[in-house]
Amino acid sequence: MIDERRGRATEAFFGRRRGRVLRPLQEANLSEGLERYGVDLSAAAPAELTSLFAAPVSSIHLEVGFGGGEHLLHHARSRPDKGFIGVEPFVNGMSKLLSALAVEPLDNVRVYHDDATQLLDWLPAASLSGVDLLYPDPWPKKKHWKRRFVTRVNLDRIATALQPGGAFRFASDIDTYVNWTLLNCRSHGAFSWQASDAADWRTAFPNWPGTRYEAKALREGRPPAYLTFRRG
Ligand SMILES: C[S@@+](CC[C@H](N)C(=O)[O-])C[C@H]1O[C@@H](n2cnc3c(N)ncnc32)[C@H](O)[C@@H]1O
Repeated sequence: MIDERRGRATEAFFGRRRGRVLRPLQEANLSEGLERYGVDLSAAAPAELTSLFAAPVSSIHLEVGFGGGEHLLHHARSRPDKGFIGVEPFVNGMSKLLSALAVEPLDNVRVYHDDATQLLDWLPAASLSGVDLLYPDPWPKKKHWKRRFVTRVNLDRIATALQPGGAFRFASDIDTYVNWTLLNCRSHGAFSWQASDAADWRTAFPNWPGTRYEAKALREGRPPAYLTFRRG
């Protein structure tokens, strides 16, 4: 596992690539699911990104680091007219989502199984209506803050991929990461924070199913913050 981590040419993924060994059915769901739902970055992105989806979709939403995919599935089910691209480098998380899709196929979902920076660099400019970064790895120690997904260069990538008026949504239970994101988005210049009062950032996003990491944070007594930024 360590070799795998060292050998990866990724820029913003520092986590574990694999957890528990997959059972044969999970392995099969993973490889067949990647075949069907995986986005192939070796081909140029289609100029009209909606053509990535088997279903007719009018806009496209990206979720970075979907974990087990529960949040992504909830939204993909409730909005069949929207396309959802989910990115997750963790094998067990990807296998969980693809196992759910093996039981309930959804033509408005695509996935990328590696570092989200690679997908963001591949996407055409202004192709996304929204980007969700929900409970990103917190890297709480100050010496690790530079590993956080929110950086100037990644905000550039998100700003480029988002359409004007598109939403960048961030949730975290780690106060230093929330402040870090507010400061970085403010100094970046392309994003405006949509909070109108103090209750705003304590209120979950609309049609919010929660996430696995959020449930853990709540159990452990860490209230989350929900930030919505609009691309100018
Ligand atoms: C703390 S977990 C949260 C998972 C899920 N969003 C939730 O709330 O339950 C963070 C996830 O981000 C993924 N991740 C970390 N760096 C990433 C990157 N550069 N690109 C895509 N996903 C990444 C990790 O593999 C992990 O599954």
